[in-house]
Amino acid sequence: NAAEKGGYEHFMLKEMYEQPKAIADTFSPRIKDGRIEIEELGMDDEAIRAVKKIVIVACGSAYHTGMTSKYIFEGMARIPVEVDLASEFRYRDPILTDGTLVIVISQSGETADSLAALREAKEKGCKVLGIVNVVGSSIAREADNVMYTWAGPEIAVATTKAYSCQLIALYLLAMKFAHVRGTISEGELAEMIEELKKLPAQVEMLLNNKDRIQKFANRYLAAKSIFFIGRGIDYAISMEGSLKLKEVSYIHSEAYAAGELKHGTISLIEDGTLVTALLTQENLYKKMISNIEEVKTRGAFVMAVTNEGHIDVEKAADYVVYIPKTNKYFTNSLAIIPLQLFGYYVAVGRGCDVDKPRNLAKSVTVE
Ligand code: AGP
Repeated sequence: NAAEKGGYEHFMLKEMYEQPKAIADTFSPRIKDGRIEIEELGMDDEAIRAVKKIVIVACGSAYHTGMTSKYIFEGMARIPVEVDLASEFRYRDPILTDGTLVIVISQSGETADSLAALREAKEKGCKVLGIVNVVGSSIAREADNVMYTWAGPEIAVATTKAYSCQLIALYLLAMKFAHVRGTISEGELAEMIEELKKLPAQVEMLLNNKDRIQKFANRYLAAKSIFFIGRGIDYAISMEGSLKLKEVSYIHSEAYAAGELKHGTISLIEDGTLVTALLTQENLYKKMISNIEEVKTRGAFVMAVTNEGHIDVEKAADYVVYIPKTNKYFTNSLAIIPLQLFGYYVAVGRGCDVDKPRNLAKSVTVE
């Protein structure tokens, strides 16, 4: 009812607006005196140094946060990471060698495939860490250790705040691992902690831009197909942006690694097709500009999401959303906000049942 929605039209919008607080609630208790402390991890420095590989297993949006963290664990902590869909992992007899840490990510803690994957990993002798939102849920109870995301109850089927908190939990873990393993310096850690603390206010600022995004979204209510492209972390952000849009608006959408465009996807671009291009990674910026030009030549209309200061992107793209400066590993937390708003407003404009999209359940407890 209206009171539960706290004055917002939908739970999805309310939950998007709860993100600044949820993000702060997830990192604050784990930063002490300029150090990352994750007591519930149940691993001392020696155990952290002994990890040889991380295997992340999840479904849907939680899988997307896992994909993002692969780039972060590998880049920042130099630990090899495999990310698997839970429904695939459990049927392929995965090779889990000594020193593998398995991380299962789940908002509900009840997703059947994720729970089965957890059991499989435990059976194979791996230590399992759960990153879970619902306290006392099955995954939280069965994992060896659980790191909670403090998003609070999430009602809308499309996840927003739990997703954002999963990212924060994964940043904290990667920072902890990188610091202990000596792949980042004290100075770098301190700087990252400072950037982390700025995220809630930056997310708030992006949310306050909602009217501009709504206006833009209203132009695409009749779109046949919408594409999202990016490289590296931006590819992972694209996947989530695309899922947000299609699950609530029912508009066909796909996410592509921008370098893969010319291997097939580009034939789908028609006159006026909307392509959302993510450019938050400085080392991939020029490559992405070329990809924008590629789709523009085929008639695409391009919305770019990039870091503040990249005015030159306006020469290549048709519409630009800027995100504030942050650490290169944290850009997902900011770039996803306009994409959540975009998906939401396209769905609202089309008169969709935003909080309860057809055919979907909040928690998928069947295999
Ligand atoms: C995302 O908006 C989805 N509704 C869905 O993909 C979800 O992330 C997935 O079902 C996993 O759920 P869980 O986090 O509760 O395990």
